[in-house]
Amino acid sequence: MELSLEKLSFGVPAAERDDDLISCFVTSETYNRVSQGKKTILLGNRGTGKSALFKKIADDEKLKGNLIVQLAPEEYSYELLSQSMKKEVEGSWAKHGAYAAAWKYLILVVVMKNFIKSGKKFKHGPEAKIYQYLRDNHKDVDTNPLGMLISYLKRMEGIKIGKYEAGIKAQELKKLYSLEEINHLTSVLDNVCAKNNAIVFVDELDKGWDASEDAISYVAGLFQAAISINTQFKNLRVLLSLRKELYDNIPALYDDAQKVRDIIETIEWDEPKLLELISKRISNKFNIDKNVPFEEIWNLTFQDTLEYRQTKSFNYIVDRTLYRPREIIQFCNDIAEGLRGQLFQGSLPFDYKQIADAEYGYSEARLKDICSEYRFQYPGLQSILETFRGKSYTFTRDELEEQLFKIVFEDIPVSKEAKTWCVDIEPDILIEILWIVGFIRAQAVGGLKARRRSGSRYLGSHQISSLNLKNIQRFHIHPMFRTYLGLKESKG
Ligand SMILES: Nc1ncnc2c1ncn2[C@@H]1O[C@H](COP(=O)(O)OP(=O)(O)OP(=O)(O)O)[C@@H](O)[C@H]1O
Ligand SMILES: [Mg+2]
Repeated sequence: MELSLEKLSFGVPAAERDDDLISCFVTSETYNRVSQGKKTILLGNRGTGKSALFKKIADDEKLKGNLIVQLAPEEYSYELLSQSMKKEVEGSWAKHGAYAAAWKYLILVVVMKNFIKSGKKFKHGPEAKIYQYLRDNHKDVDTNPLGMLISYLKRMEGIKIGKYEAGIKAQELKKLYSLEEINHLTSVLDNVCAKNNAIVFVDELDKGWDASEDAISYVAGLFQAAISINTQFKNLRVLLSLRKELYDNIPALYDDAQKVRDIIETIEWDEPKLLELISKRISNKFNIDKNVPFEEIWNLTFQDTLEYRQTKSFNYIVDRTLYRPREIIQFCNDIAEGLRGQLFQGSLPFDYKQIADAEYGYSEARLKDICSEYRFQYPGLQSILETFRGKSYTFTRDELEEQLFKIVFEDIPVSKEAKTWCVDIEPDILIEILWIVGFIRAQAVGGLKARRRSGSRYLGSHQISSLNLKNIQRFHIHPMFRTYLGLKESKG
Protein backbone atom coordinates (compact mmCIF):
# COMPACT_ATOMS: atom_id res chain seq x y z
CA MET A 1 0.00 0.00 0.00
CA GLU A 2 1.29 3.47 -0.78
CA LEU A 3 0.20 6.48 1.24
CA SER A 4 -0.03 9.99 -0.07
CA LEU A 5 2.30 12.51 1.49
CA GLU A 6 -0.15 15.27 0.71
CA LYS A 7 -2.79 13.81 2.99
CA LEU A 8 -0.43 12.63 5.71
CA SER A 9 -0.84 14.20 9.14
CA PHE A 10 -0.04 12.69 12.49
CA GLY A 11 -2.53 14.79 14.41
CA VAL A 12 -2.72 18.16 16.11
CA PRO A 13 -0.74 19.22 19.17
CA ALA A 14 -3.59 19.83 21.62
CA ALA A 15 -6.56 17.67 22.53
CA GLU A 16 -8.98 20.60 22.48
CA ARG A 17 -8.56 20.90 18.72
CA ASP A 18 -8.24 17.20 18.03
CA ASP A 19 -11.29 16.01 16.09
CA ASP A 20 -9.82 12.54 15.64
CA LEU A 21 -9.21 11.96 19.33
CA ILE A 22 -12.16 9.73 20.09
CA SER A 23 -11.55 7.47 17.11
CA CYS A 24 -7.81 7.32 17.83
CA PHE A 25 -7.92 7.23 21.61
CA VAL A 26 -5.36 4.99 23.28
CA THR A 27 -6.72 3.50 26.48
CA SER A 28 -4.59 2.70 29.51
CA GLU A 29 -4.77 1.75 33.16
CA THR A 30 -4.81 5.46 33.92
CA TYR A 31 -7.86 5.90 31.75
CA ASN A 32 -9.58 2.98 33.50
CA ARG A 33 -8.87 4.25 36.98
CA VAL A 34 -9.95 7.82 36.27
CA SER A 35 -13.07 6.84 34.37
CA GLN A 36 -14.13 4.48 37.14
CA GLY A 37 -13.72 7.30 39.64
CA LYS A 38 -10.97 5.55 41.58
CA LYS A 39 -8.71 8.49 40.88
CA THR A 40 -9.89 12.07 40.66
CA ILE A 41 -6.73 14.14 40.42
CA LEU A 42 -4.74 13.77 37.24
CA LEU A 43 -1.12 14.85 37.01
CA GLY A 44 1.02 14.90 33.92
CA ASN A 45 3.68 16.95 32.22
CA ARG A 46 2.81 19.20 29.31
CA GLY A 47 1.53 17.33 26.30
CA THR A 48 1.12 13.99 28.02
CA GLY A 49 -2.63 13.87 27.44
CA LYS A 50 -4.47 15.35 30.42
CA SER A 51 -6.98 17.19 28.28
CA ALA A 52 -7.26 14.18 25.97
CA LEU A 53 -8.20 11.92 28.84
CA PHE A 54 -10.81 14.36 30.13
CA LYS A 55 -12.23 14.81 26.65
CA LYS A 56 -12.59 11.07 26.23
CA ILE A 57 -14.20 10.57 29.64
CA ALA A 58 -16.57 13.48 29.01
CA ASP A 59 -17.54 11.83 25.74
CA ASP A 60 -18.16 8.47 27.46
CA GLU A 61 -20.26 10.09 30.16
CA LYS A 62 -22.31 12.11 27.71
CA LEU A 63 -23.17 8.89 25.89
CA LYS A 64 -24.44 7.50 29.18
CA GLY A 65 -26.69 10.54 29.52
CA ASN A 66 -24.76 12.03 32.42
CA LEU A 67 -24.31 15.71 33.06
CA ILE A 68 -20.94 17.17 32.10
CA VAL A 69 -19.71 20.48 33.42
CA GLN A 70 -16.44 21.79 32.05
CA LEU A 71 -14.79 24.78 33.64
CA ALA A 72 -12.97 26.38 30.77
CA PRO A 73 -9.55 28.05 30.82
CA GLU A 74 -10.72 31.53 29.80
CA GLU A 75 -12.53 31.57 33.08
CA TYR A 76 -9.46 31.63 35.26
CA SER A 77 -7.50 34.77 35.58
CA TYR A 78 -4.78 34.78 38.17
CA GLU A 79 -4.01 38.39 37.56
CA LEU A 80 -7.57 39.37 38.31
CA LEU A 81 -7.46 37.38 41.54
CA SER A 82 -4.32 39.12 42.71
CA GLN A 83 -5.81 42.50 41.88
CA SER A 84 -9.04 41.77 43.65
CA MET A 85 -7.93 40.08 46.82
CA LYS A 86 -6.01 41.51 49.73
CA LYS A 87 -2.67 39.93 50.53
CA GLU A 88 -2.65 37.37 53.28
CA VAL A 89 -0.50 39.61 55.52
CA GLU A 90 -2.79 42.60 55.04
CA GLY A 91 -5.93 40.70 55.70
CA SER A 92 -4.43 38.30 58.21
CA TRP A 93 -6.68 35.59 56.90
CA ALA A 94 -5.93 32.05 55.93
CA LYS A 95 -6.44 31.99 52.23
CA HIS A 96 -6.46 28.28 51.41
CA GLY A 97 -9.47 27.60 53.58
CA ALA A 98 -11.33 30.59 52.20
CA TYR A 99 -10.62 29.54 48.64
CA ALA A 100 -11.67 25.98 49.41
CA ALA A 101 -15.04 27.17 50.69
CA ALA A 102 -15.50 29.52 47.76
CA TRP A 103 -14.63 26.78 45.28
CA LYS A 104 -17.03 24.35 46.82
CA TYR A 105 -19.77 26.96 46.73
CA LEU A 106 -18.98 27.75 43.10
CA ILE A 107 -18.91 24.15 41.94
CA LEU A 108 -22.16 23.26 43.64
CA VAL A 109 -23.97 26.32 42.34
CA VAL A 110 -22.67 25.72 38.81
CA VAL A 111 -23.85 22.10 38.91
CA MET A 112 -27.28 23.17 40.13
CA LYS A 113 -27.51 25.74 37.37
CA ASN A 114 -26.53 23.18 34.77
CA PHE A 115 -29.19 20.79 35.96
CA ILE A 116 -31.83 23.46 35.61
CA LYS A 117 -30.48 24.40 32.18
CA SER A 118 -30.56 20.75 31.07
CA GLY A 119 -34.35 21.06 31.13
CA LYS A 120 -35.16 18.67 33.97
CA LYS A 121 -38.41 19.27 35.78
CA PHE A 122 -37.51 21.22 38.85
CA LYS A 123 -40.58 23.12 39.83
CA HIS A 124 -42.12 20.33 41.91
CA GLY A 125 -40.98 17.90 44.53
CA PRO A 126 -37.85 18.31 46.62
CA GLU A 127 -35.95 19.60 43.58
CA ALA A 128 -38.06 22.72 43.71
CA LYS A 129 -35.84 23.90 46.54
CA ILE A 130 -32.94 24.13 44.14
CA TYR A 131 -35.03 25.96 41.62
CA GLN A 132 -36.18 28.45 44.26
CA TYR A 133 -32.71 28.98 45.62
CA LEU A 134 -31.29 29.75 42.19
CA ARG A 135 -34.21 31.99 41.33
CA ASP A 136 -33.81 33.96 44.55
CA ASN A 137 -30.04 34.13 44.69
CA HIS A 138 -28.51 33.74 41.28
CA LYS A 139 -31.00 35.10 38.85
CA ASP A 140 -29.25 38.09 37.44
CA VAL A 141 -26.06 37.55 39.30
CA ASP A 142 -22.82 37.19 37.41
CA THR A 143 -22.82 33.87 35.61
CA ASN A 144 -19.08 33.93 35.08
CA PRO A 145 -17.65 31.33 37.48
CA LEU A 146 -14.60 33.38 38.36
CA GLY A 147 -16.83 36.32 39.21
CA MET A 148 -18.86 34.12 41.52
CA LEU A 149 -15.73 32.80 43.20
CA ILE A 150 -14.36 36.29 43.75
CA SER A 151 -17.59 37.61 45.14
CA TYR A 152 -17.78 34.78 47.66
CA LEU A 153 -14.20 35.42 48.70
CA LYS A 154 -14.95 39.11 48.99
CA ARG A 155 -17.75 38.35 51.41
CA MET A 156 -15.29 36.50 53.64
CA GLU A 157 -12.60 39.08 53.25
CA GLY A 158 -15.08 41.80 54.16
CA ILE A 159 -15.83 40.14 57.47
CA LYS A 160 -12.24 39.21 58.22
CA ILE A 161 -10.91 42.68 57.86
CA GLY A 162 -14.09 44.63 58.65
CA LYS A 163 -14.81 46.25 62.02
CA TYR A 164 -17.17 43.68 63.46
CA GLU A 165 -17.44 42.62 67.03
CA ALA A 166 -15.43 39.45 67.59
CA GLY A 167 -18.43 37.25 68.30
CA ILE A 168 -20.38 38.38 65.27
CA LYS A 169 -17.30 38.09 63.13
CA ALA A 170 -16.79 34.47 64.13
CA GLN A 171 -20.42 33.62 63.59
CA GLU A 172 -20.66 35.24 60.17
CA LEU A 173 -17.45 33.62 59.04
CA LYS A 174 -18.55 30.23 60.19
CA LYS A 175 -21.66 30.58 58.08
CA LEU A 176 -19.61 31.36 55.00
CA TYR A 177 -17.03 28.65 55.58
CA SER A 178 -19.70 26.03 56.14
CA LEU A 179 -21.67 27.19 53.09
CA GLU A 180 -24.75 27.74 55.18
CA GLU A 181 -26.49 29.36 52.25
CA ILE A 182 -26.67 26.10 50.31
CA ASN A 183 -26.27 23.42 52.94
CA HIS A 184 -29.95 22.56 52.94
CA LEU A 185 -29.65 21.72 49.24
CA THR A 186 -26.75 19.28 49.23
CA SER A 187 -28.71 16.11 49.85
CA VAL A 188 -31.38 17.21 47.36
CA LEU A 189 -28.65 17.78 44.82
CA ASP A 190 -27.07 14.40 45.46
CA ASN A 191 -30.47 12.78 44.90
CA VAL A 192 -30.98 14.69 41.68
CA CYS A 193 -27.56 13.46 40.55
CA ALA A 194 -28.58 9.87 41.27
CA LYS A 195 -30.62 9.81 38.07
CA ASN A 196 -27.97 11.42 35.94
CA ASN A 197 -24.55 11.54 37.52
CA ALA A 198 -22.79 14.83 37.26
CA ILE A 199 -19.10 15.18 36.50
CA VAL A 200 -17.22 18.44 36.75
CA PHE A 201 -13.93 18.72 34.86
CA VAL A 202 -11.36 21.33 35.74
CA ASP A 203 -8.48 21.38 33.29
CA GLU A 204 -5.75 23.81 32.26
CA LEU A 205 -5.29 25.41 35.65
CA ASP A 206 -1.80 26.32 34.54
CA LYS A 207 -3.02 28.77 31.90
CA GLY A 208 -1.88 32.20 32.97
CA TRP A 209 -0.26 30.72 36.07
CA ASP A 210 1.85 33.32 37.82
CA ALA A 211 2.94 31.54 41.01
CA SER A 212 1.37 34.32 43.10
CA GLU A 213 -0.05 33.84 46.57
CA ASP A 214 -3.57 33.88 45.16
CA ALA A 215 -2.75 31.47 42.36
CA ILE A 216 -1.45 28.98 44.91
CA SER A 217 -4.42 29.38 47.22
CA TYR A 218 -6.73 29.09 44.25
CA VAL A 219 -5.31 25.73 43.24
CA ALA A 220 -4.87 24.45 46.80
CA GLY A 221 -8.43 25.50 47.65
CA LEU A 222 -9.73 23.75 44.58
CA PHE A 223 -7.97 20.54 45.62
CA GLN A 224 -9.59 20.69 49.04
CA ALA A 225 -13.00 21.49 47.59
CA ALA A 226 -12.80 18.63 45.11
CA ILE A 227 -11.77 16.16 47.79
CA SER A 228 -14.55 17.35 50.06
CA ILE A 229 -17.23 17.13 47.35
CA ASN A 230 -16.03 13.71 46.20
CA THR A 231 -16.27 12.42 49.75
CA GLN A 232 -19.60 14.01 50.54
CA PHE A 233 -21.50 13.27 47.32
CA LYS A 234 -22.20 9.86 45.92
CA ASN A 235 -23.35 10.95 42.50
CA LEU A 236 -21.34 14.03 41.81
CA ARG A 237 -17.67 13.83 40.95
CA VAL A 238 -15.05 16.52 40.43
CA LEU A 239 -12.04 15.66 38.26
CA LEU A 240 -9.00 17.90 38.27
CA SER A 241 -5.89 17.98 36.18
CA LEU A 242 -2.68 19.75 36.95
CA ARG A 243 0.75 19.91 35.39
CA LYS A 244 3.07 17.74 37.34
CA GLU A 245 5.77 20.33 37.91
CA LEU A 246 3.23 22.80 39.28
CA TYR A 247 1.99 20.19 41.69
CA ASP A 248 5.53 19.42 42.80
CA ASN A 249 6.02 23.11 43.40
CA ILE A 250 3.01 23.72 45.66
CA PRO A 251 3.72 22.08 49.02
CA ALA A 252 0.26 23.15 50.24
CA LEU A 253 -1.17 20.51 47.91
CA TYR A 254 0.52 17.60 49.54
CA ASP A 255 0.45 18.74 53.14
CA ASP A 256 -2.31 16.21 53.47
CA ALA A 257 -0.16 13.77 51.56
CA GLN A 258 -1.74 10.52 52.63
CA LYS A 259 -5.28 11.54 51.87
CA VAL A 260 -4.31 12.96 48.54
CA ARG A 261 -1.96 10.23 47.40
CA ASP A 262 -4.68 7.60 47.03
CA ILE A 263 -6.66 9.69 44.59
CA ILE A 264 -3.83 10.98 42.44
CA GLU A 265 -3.01 9.47 39.09
CA THR A 266 0.04 10.42 37.05
CA ILE A 267 -0.02 9.97 33.28
CA GLU A 268 2.93 8.02 31.99
CA TRP A 269 3.65 6.54 28.59
CA ASP A 270 5.90 3.80 27.32
CA GLU A 271 7.15 2.95 23.85
CA PRO A 272 4.53 0.36 22.82
CA LYS A 273 1.74 2.78 23.80
CA LEU A 274 3.32 5.61 21.84
CA LEU A 275 3.65 3.35 18.81
CA GLU A 276 -0.02 2.52 19.18
CA LEU A 277 -0.89 6.21 19.42
CA ILE A 278 0.92 7.25 16.28
CA SER A 279 -0.11 4.18 14.26
CA LYS A 280 -3.77 4.68 15.12
CA ARG A 281 -3.51 8.17 13.74
CA ILE A 282 -1.96 6.94 10.49
CA SER A 283 -4.52 4.21 10.06
CA ASN A 284 -7.38 6.57 10.86
CA LYS A 285 -6.20 8.99 8.17
CA PHE A 286 -5.94 6.31 5.50
CA ASN A 287 -8.71 3.96 6.61
CA ILE A 288 -6.33 1.09 7.18
CA ASP A 289 -7.81 -2.11 8.52
CA LYS A 290 -7.83 -2.15 12.34
CA ASN A 291 -6.16 -5.57 12.40
CA VAL A 292 -2.93 -4.50 10.75
CA PRO A 293 -0.20 -4.57 13.43
CA PHE A 294 0.97 -1.15 14.63
CA GLU A 295 4.54 -1.74 13.54
CA GLU A 296 3.46 -2.49 10.00
CA ILE A 297 1.44 0.72 9.89
CA TRP A 298 4.41 2.70 11.16
CA ASN A 299 6.57 1.18 8.45
CA LEU A 300 4.25 2.51 5.77
CA THR A 301 5.44 5.98 6.69
CA PHE A 302 8.98 5.39 8.00
CA GLN A 303 11.67 3.07 6.68
CA ASP A 304 11.94 0.26 9.18
CA THR A 305 15.70 0.48 9.65
CA LEU A 306 17.63 3.71 9.12
CA GLU A 307 21.03 4.07 7.56
CA TYR A 308 22.10 5.76 10.76
CA ARG A 309 23.68 2.89 12.71
CA GLN A 310 21.02 0.54 11.48
CA THR A 311 18.65 1.99 14.07
CA LYS A 312 14.96 1.15 13.96
CA SER A 313 13.18 4.30 12.84
CA PHE A 314 10.61 4.17 15.63
CA ASN A 315 13.34 3.84 18.22
CA TYR A 316 15.19 6.77 16.71
CA ILE A 317 12.12 9.00 16.91
CA VAL A 318 10.90 7.92 20.33
CA ASP A 319 14.42 8.30 21.76
CA ARG A 320 14.12 11.97 20.89
CA THR A 321 11.10 12.47 23.12
CA LEU A 322 10.34 12.49 26.82
CA TYR A 323 7.57 9.97 26.08
CA ARG A 324 4.90 12.60 25.56
CA PRO A 325 2.32 12.19 22.78
CA ARG A 326 2.59 15.83 21.76
CA GLU A 327 6.31 15.41 21.07
CA ILE A 328 6.00 12.41 18.82
CA ILE A 329 3.09 13.98 16.93
CA GLN A 330 5.14 17.15 16.51
CA PHE A 331 8.33 15.45 15.33
CA CYS A 332 6.50 13.27 12.79
CA ASN A 333 4.53 16.25 11.48
CA ASP A 334 7.73 18.31 11.15
CA ILE A 335 9.27 15.53 9.06
CA ALA A 336 6.24 15.34 6.76
CA GLU A 337 6.04 19.12 6.52
CA GLY A 338 9.73 19.37 5.63
CA LEU A 339 9.34 16.94 2.79
CA ARG A 340 6.19 18.60 1.48
CA GLY A 341 8.09 21.87 1.28
CA GLN A 342 10.64 20.40 -1.12
CA LEU A 343 10.52 20.59 -4.86
CA PHE A 344 11.30 16.94 -5.47
CA GLN A 345 9.28 15.37 -2.77
CA GLY A 346 10.13 11.74 -3.26
CA SER A 347 7.70 9.33 -1.72
CA LEU A 348 6.97 7.58 1.54
CA PRO A 349 8.34 5.97 3.59
CA PHE A 350 10.64 8.62 5.07
CA ASP A 351 14.32 7.81 5.29
CA TYR A 352 17.06 9.01 7.61
CA LYS A 353 17.87 12.13 5.62
CA GLN A 354 14.32 13.40 5.91
CA ILE A 355 14.27 12.77 9.63
CA ALA A 356 17.63 14.48 10.08
CA ASP A 357 16.44 17.50 8.06
CA ALA A 358 13.61 18.08 10.52
CA GLU A 359 15.59 17.31 13.63
CA TYR A 360 17.32 20.63 14.21
CA GLY A 361 14.08 22.61 14.24
CA TYR A 362 12.39 20.05 16.44
CA SER A 363 15.33 19.96 18.85
CA GLU A 364 15.38 23.76 19.12
CA ALA A 365 11.64 23.98 19.71
CA ARG A 366 11.74 21.28 22.40
CA LEU A 367 14.64 22.85 24.27
CA LYS A 368 12.86 26.21 24.33
CA ASP A 369 9.55 24.64 25.32
CA ILE A 370 11.09 22.75 28.21
CA CYS A 371 12.77 25.91 29.47
CA SER A 372 9.50 27.78 29.26
CA GLU A 373 7.68 24.94 31.00
CA TYR A 374 10.00 25.30 34.00
CA ARG A 375 10.23 29.09 33.96
CA PHE A 376 8.77 29.46 37.45
CA GLN A 377 10.89 26.83 39.18
CA TYR A 378 14.07 27.35 37.21
CA PRO A 379 14.00 30.72 35.47
CA GLY A 380 16.77 31.20 32.94
CA LEU A 381 17.26 27.46 32.55
CA GLN A 382 18.11 27.91 28.89
CA SER A 383 21.30 29.79 29.70
CA ILE A 384 22.45 26.82 31.78
CA LEU A 385 21.70 24.33 29.03
CA GLU A 386 23.54 26.57 26.58
CA THR A 387 26.76 26.12 28.56
CA PHE A 388 26.90 22.59 27.14
CA ARG A 389 26.91 23.81 23.53
CA GLY A 390 29.48 22.13 21.31
CA LYS A 391 30.67 19.72 23.99
CA SER A 392 30.56 15.96 23.83
CA TYR A 393 27.33 14.50 25.05
CA THR A 394 28.57 11.85 27.46
CA PHE A 395 29.98 12.75 30.85
CA THR A 396 31.49 10.93 33.75
CA ARG A 397 30.15 12.18 37.08
CA ASP A 398 33.40 14.04 37.68
CA GLU A 399 33.29 15.78 34.33
CA LEU A 400 29.69 16.78 34.81
CA GLU A 401 30.30 18.03 38.33
CA GLU A 402 33.27 20.04 37.15
CA GLN A 403 31.17 21.74 34.50
CA LEU A 404 28.44 22.48 37.03
CA PHE A 405 30.93 23.76 39.61
CA LYS A 406 31.98 26.34 37.08
CA ILE A 407 28.37 27.47 36.80
CA VAL A 408 27.79 27.45 40.53
CA PHE A 409 30.96 29.43 41.18
CA GLU A 410 30.26 31.75 38.29
CA ASP A 411 33.31 30.80 36.21
CA ILE A 412 30.93 30.17 33.36
CA PRO A 413 28.44 33.01 32.99
CA VAL A 414 24.72 32.27 33.00
CA SER A 415 21.76 34.63 32.80
CA LYS A 416 20.64 36.92 35.61
CA GLU A 417 17.49 34.86 36.12
CA ALA A 418 19.45 31.63 36.38
CA LYS A 419 21.80 33.15 38.95
CA THR A 420 18.89 33.74 41.29
CA TRP A 421 18.73 30.03 42.02
CA CYS A 422 21.71 28.15 40.62
CA VAL A 423 24.65 29.79 42.30
CA ASP A 424 25.26 28.59 45.83
CA ILE A 425 23.68 25.19 45.31
CA GLU A 426 25.60 21.94 45.33
CA PRO A 427 26.41 20.46 41.91
CA ASP A 428 24.58 17.35 43.14
CA ILE A 429 21.36 19.31 43.32
CA LEU A 430 21.96 20.81 39.91
CA ILE A 431 22.46 17.30 38.50
CA GLU A 432 19.14 16.36 40.04
CA ILE A 433 17.43 19.34 38.43
CA LEU A 434 18.88 18.58 34.99
CA TRP A 435 17.66 15.04 35.43
CA ILE A 436 14.14 16.06 36.47
CA VAL A 437 13.65 18.40 33.52
CA GLY A 438 14.79 15.61 31.20
CA PHE A 439 18.05 17.16 30.02
CA ILE A 440 20.34 14.36 31.19
CA ARG A 441 19.93 10.62 31.41
CA ALA A 442 21.75 8.32 33.79
CA GLN A 443 23.58 5.16 32.93
CA ALA A 444 21.70 2.47 34.74
CA VAL A 445 23.50 -0.22 36.63
CA GLY A 446 21.84 -3.36 37.85
CA GLY A 447 18.38 -4.64 37.01
CA LEU A 448 16.30 -1.48 37.39
CA LYS A 449 12.63 -1.68 36.64
CA ALA A 450 11.98 1.00 34.08
CA ARG A 451 9.92 1.74 31.01
CA ARG A 452 12.72 1.29 28.50
CA ARG A 453 13.45 -1.15 25.76
CA SER A 454 16.09 -3.71 26.48
CA GLY A 455 19.52 -2.73 25.31
CA SER A 456 19.44 1.00 26.05
CA ARG A 457 21.67 1.70 28.99
CA TYR A 458 20.75 5.28 29.76
CA LEU A 459 17.56 6.16 31.58
CA GLY A 460 15.73 9.48 31.88
CA SER A 461 13.29 10.67 34.51
CA HIS A 462 10.45 9.89 32.06
CA GLN A 463 11.46 6.21 32.15
CA ILE A 464 11.96 5.57 35.82
CA SER A 465 10.17 7.25 38.68
CA SER A 466 12.85 7.14 41.31
CA LEU A 467 16.52 6.58 40.92
CA ASN A 468 19.28 7.22 43.38
CA LEU A 469 21.33 9.57 41.27
CA LYS A 470 24.14 9.68 43.83
CA ASN A 471 25.22 6.20 42.74
CA ILE A 472 25.35 7.02 39.06
CA GLN A 473 28.78 7.43 37.53
CA ARG A 474 27.97 8.22 33.91
CA PHE A 475 25.46 10.54 32.29
CA HIS A 476 24.58 11.69 28.83
CA ILE A 477 22.56 14.54 27.44
CA HIS A 478 19.18 13.44 26.17
CA PRO A 479 19.25 12.98 22.36
CA MET A 480 16.32 15.39 21.94
CA PHE A 481 18.58 18.36 22.81
CA ARG A 482 21.75 17.31 21.00
CA THR A 483 21.23 18.61 17.49
CA TYR A 484 20.28 22.09 18.59
CA LEU A 485 23.23 22.30 20.98
CA GLY A 486 25.62 20.86 18.38
CA LEU A 487 26.81 18.14 20.74
CA LYS A 488 29.47 15.68 19.66
CA GLU A 489 30.04 12.06 20.33
CA SER A 490 32.82 11.50 22.81
CA LYS A 491 36.05 10.01 21.53
CA GLY A 492 36.22 7.35 24.19
N1 LIG B 1 -4.68 8.62 25.17
C1 LIG B 1 -4.54 9.29 24.03
N2 LIG B 1 -4.97 8.77 22.87
C2 LIG B 1 -4.82 9.45 21.72
N3 LIG B 1 -4.26 10.67 21.62
C3 LIG B 1 -3.80 11.24 22.74
C4 LIG B 1 -3.91 10.59 23.99
N4 LIG B 1 -3.36 11.39 24.92
C5 LIG B 1 -2.94 12.49 24.28
N5 LIG B 1 -3.20 12.42 22.97
C6 LIG B 1 -2.89 13.47 21.98
O1 LIG B 1 -1.65 14.06 22.31
C7 LIG B 1 -1.69 15.49 22.19
C8 LIG B 1 -1.37 16.15 23.52
O2 LIG B 1 -2.36 15.83 24.48
P1 LIG B 1 -3.11 16.92 25.40
O3 LIG B 1 -3.41 18.15 24.64
O4 LIG B 1 -4.24 16.20 26.05
O5 LIG B 1 -1.96 17.19 26.48
P2 LIG B 1 -2.06 17.96 27.88
O6 LIG B 1 -1.48 17.07 28.90
O7 LIG B 1 -3.44 18.44 28.09
O8 LIG B 1 -1.06 19.17 27.64
P3 LIG B 1 -1.05 20.67 28.28
O9 LIG B 1 -0.39 20.55 29.60
O10 LIG B 1 -0.23 21.48 27.34
O11 LIG B 1 -2.47 21.13 28.36
C9 LIG B 1 -3.09 15.81 21.67
O12 LIG B 1 -3.07 15.91 20.28
C10 LIG B 1 -3.90 14.61 22.09
O13 LIG B 1 -5.00 14.42 21.26
MG1 LIG C 1 -4.27 20.31 28.15
